[in-house]
Amino acid sequence: MYIIHKFQRYLCAILDAILIDGVRVKGYSAWSLLDNFEWTYGYSAKFGLIHVDFTDPNRKRTAKKSAEWYKNLTRDRMILEG
Ligand SMILES: *[C@@H]1O[C@H](CO)[C@@H](O)[C@H](O)[C@H]1NC(C)=O
Repeated sequence: MYIIHKFQRYLCAILDAILIDGVRVKGYSAWSLLDNFEWTYGYSAKFGLIHVDFTDPNRKRTAKKSAEWYKNLTRDRMILEG
């Protein structure tokens, strides 16, 4: 839920910048696609759209609810509740 809320807040702020301030935004990239090593938090922070099991030698990946939300965002082109 936290990650979806973060995306909603960031994207609404970007929309405000475009619509209110006239900023010419060229793109947006989600951070991040996969859970990864973060300089400050190591592997404890889970910012990815895809969960990575770092205890699994194959690093099993599982899509989170936020991945589905982000997929819906790109499909519907609307910032909806998660
Ligand atoms: C994604 O959209 C589907 C409808 O197409 C909806 O049922 C589902 O709840 C949405 N998922 C999220 C995480 O918002």
